Amino acid sequence: MPAPAKIDLRSDTVTLPTPGMRKAMARAKVGDSRRGEDPTVRALEERSAALFGKEAGLFVPSGTMGNLCAVSTWSRPGDVIVASSASHIAGREGPAVSHMASVAILGIDAPGGIFSAEEVAQAIAATPVRMESKVRMVTVENTHNAGGGTVFPLAELKRIRSVCAKSSLPLHIDGSRIFNASVASGASPASYGKVAGSLMFCLSKGLGAPVGSVLVGARDFIAEARKVGLRVGGGMRQAGIVAAGGLYALSHHVERLAEDHENARALARGLEEIPGVEIINAPVPTNIVLFRWQAASAGLPFFREAIAPSGVLVDDRMFPLFRAVTHLGIGKTEIARALRAFREVFGRGKRS
Ligand SMILES: Cc1ncc(COP(=O)(O)O)c(C=O)c1O
Repeated sequence: MPAPAKIDLRSDTVTLPTPGMRKAMARAKVGDSRRGEDPTVRALEERSAALFGKEAGLFVPSGTMGNLCAVSTWSRPGDVIVASSASHIAGREGPAVSHMASVAILGIDAPGGIFSAEEVAQAIAATPVRMESKVRMVTVENTHNAGGGTVFPLAELKRIRSVCAKSSLPLHIDGSRIFNASVASGASPASYGKVAGSLMFCLSKGLGAPVGSVLVGARDFIAEARKVGLRVGGGMRQAGIVAAGGLYALSHHVERLAEDHENARALARGLEEIPGVEIINAPVPTNIVLFRWQAASAGLPFFREAIAPSGVLVDDRMFPLFRAVTHLGIGKTEIARALRAFREVFGRGKRS
């Protein structure tokens, strides 16, 4: 029997370019991007800046590089930056940011990664006392990945921006999934851009492009950030081929994120009905479902072996905690198949 088609729920980074996107990429006009001569990269940067109401944009290969360019541009060695303690900047990117931008990260513990303006004010006030240094920038992650795709309320972002403004600090938004936030909340990309001194968003996650992120901000800021990107090897050449995938995604893959959110909620509803399964981030805000399996005796090796024949892939690195992410490769049929597999495996695991 042929193996069943994979249902890959590990992340929204696993999306493959659609035929329409591949066509757009094949047709892209290109030039030497490092010299500023690639018309497609320039078009993507200009369109991104306009979308968020900013003066300029910088196309970079990854979200990690976009965040690093922002942190390095806003701060100086020895400074402190504020972030949620479970954020991507503090966690996965923390060692690189500490090493390459030479900053310390002050993490705020907050449910779902959503902290308040008061917590930011406290962090700013306490830092010179606690850390012999000063906060130089504040970052928020929207949506918040580890928090379970939580949406940072725009009203709170405005209050945080006021707190930052009182201390002349920039607010950087790690908006890897800002379009998920926008579609879920109804707040426009420009409204998020308005509260942020800089904002980075990813084309290669829910938007389904193969490569890239864009950092947007004021013209001077982006000129400095571009230098940081070049210093760390971010200079690309005929990058219009991949930028074209990003432009296509902005035209065709934004509104459809609502389907991913609906599919994530359907997955959560089905999982909730399985005895011993608990949804951690109910009600599921966007495209990420976090759930726990109270497996009495069955362990990770059992789970991996039992789920493998179904073709379902899920992030099980924190077993018995799981993360499942919906994206443009997942439709209603895949959700139904995944639920059948989870029902069967979790049912069997309970008995074993
Ligand atoms: C919230 C967040 N920020 C930044 C990144 C880094 O993006 P990249 O993998 O493109 O470097 C990720 C990646 O998953 C992320 O989830």
